[in-house]
Amino acid sequence: MSRIPADFLVENAARLYSMGGGGTSPRRGSELRQVGIFEPGAVAARGGRIVAVGTTESVRDRVQILPGAEVEDAEGHAVIPGLVDPHTHAVFTTARSEEFGRRLVGESYQSIAADGGGIRASVRDFREAREGALVEVTRRRLRAMLRYGTTTVEVKSGYGLSVEAELKALRVLRTLSEEAELPTVVRTCLAAHEFPDEFRDRREDYVDLVLSEILPRIVEEGLAERVDVFCEPGVFTVDQARRVLVRGRELGLRATVHADELEGSGGAALAAEVGADSADHLGCIDEGGIDALSNSSTVAVLLPGTIFSLGLDHWAPARRLIDAGAVVALATDFNPGSNYCESLPLTMSIACTRLGLHPHEVLNMATVNAAHALRLSEEVGSLEVGKRADLVILREATIDGTLHHLGLEAVQATYLGGHRVYLRREG
Ligand code: NIG
Ligand code: FE
Repeated sequence: MSRIPADFLVENAARLYSMGGGGTSPRRGSELRQVGIFEPGAVAARGGRIVAVGTTESVRDRVQILPGAEVEDAEGHAVIPGLVDPHTHAVFTTARSEEFGRRLVGESYQSIAADGGGIRASVRDFREAREGALVEVTRRRLRAMLRYGTTTVEVKSGYGLSVEAELKALRVLRTLSEEAELPTVVRTCLAAHEFPDEFRDRREDYVDLVLSEILPRIVEEGLAERVDVFCEPGVFTVDQARRVLVRGRELGLRATVHADELEGSGGAALAAEVGADSADHLGCIDEGGIDALSNSSTVAVLLPGTIFSLGLDHWAPARRLIDAGAVVALATDFNPGSNYCESLPLTMSIACTRLGLHPHEVLNMATVNAAHALRLSEEVGSLEVGKRADLVILREATIDGTLHHLGLEAVQATYLGGHRVYLRREG
């Protein structure tokens, strides 16, 4: 039998979580416990694509290692697919850490926002920032994500809120998405993140600007793949959000929604109604919203890091969503205000303890189902033949050990397309 040539091999993983075996569908209900373990495990690739995965012995039997191949021994360590983070706001100037302190002594996220802080404060800074400086600072954040095992990330605009500044945010992301040694970036236009100061008293005019200028320009210049809206009492109403999403769809963008985050908004039902990729947050989702998501392919993306960071207690009803049959995924929501955290492993630990989920369920949420949320499941999210060789060697021998060991630097090494892009320095 002829062997398959390979230029990349990771072998002897104490446990390799391939996440394979589920076909092409996202995982629902009890399927979330399936993680496709091989012990000791190996994965081989050629030209950046996986050619074999299984036990070390079976992979060694099937592949022919080419001269000059990159071969790694992962003895004592777990191997997982590269993590997928389907919701971040990583293009901003600086974190609003002064607000963090204010919230801890009594002010709320909403009252700070109503006072001109929050997203609008980030907008004032962002508009002043040079594009080159934004590229630099955002590149550093994307590199940090590799250290936390994230190999695919969605990033939203949303601190520009004008034609020029929204284009600037998405151009920064386009520049970075062309760089090889960074996570794969999915770009989303979130011009409907807030009403900018100059439109506070004429909100409908801002909605018109988004519909008639910002979205068409972004599509014309090929700058985004998706459209998002912050559907929340006091920000975009369900009716305004629907118009933004429908317009985006008409222009060829896929949709996602900030839904039911701080108060119930009806955003989850709206996301299902317009066939959005995902409805995100869901801390205040009601039964109608759960029903709507369960009967749809719109993914429920949960962001427990934000509730943790805001010091709140209204955790998304993850178990109810899972039991009802919704597709659930996990994301960081990394942003300068409500969650200044780019670590998916930490977010996964919070998901275990605060959403009451098993580490295997959480691993599915941050790989297979997160890839579905971005409609990238044919490329990433599991270690299966034909997919990209994006993977992570963890420091611990299991995912349970990784998520139990709070605050640890969880990752030993990260690979993109069979090339190592991060190696942890010992010590
Ligand atoms: O998802 N909710 C709106 N947007 C972000 C917060 C952004 C910020 O605070 O700057 C979120 O929580
Ligand atoms: Fe967000």
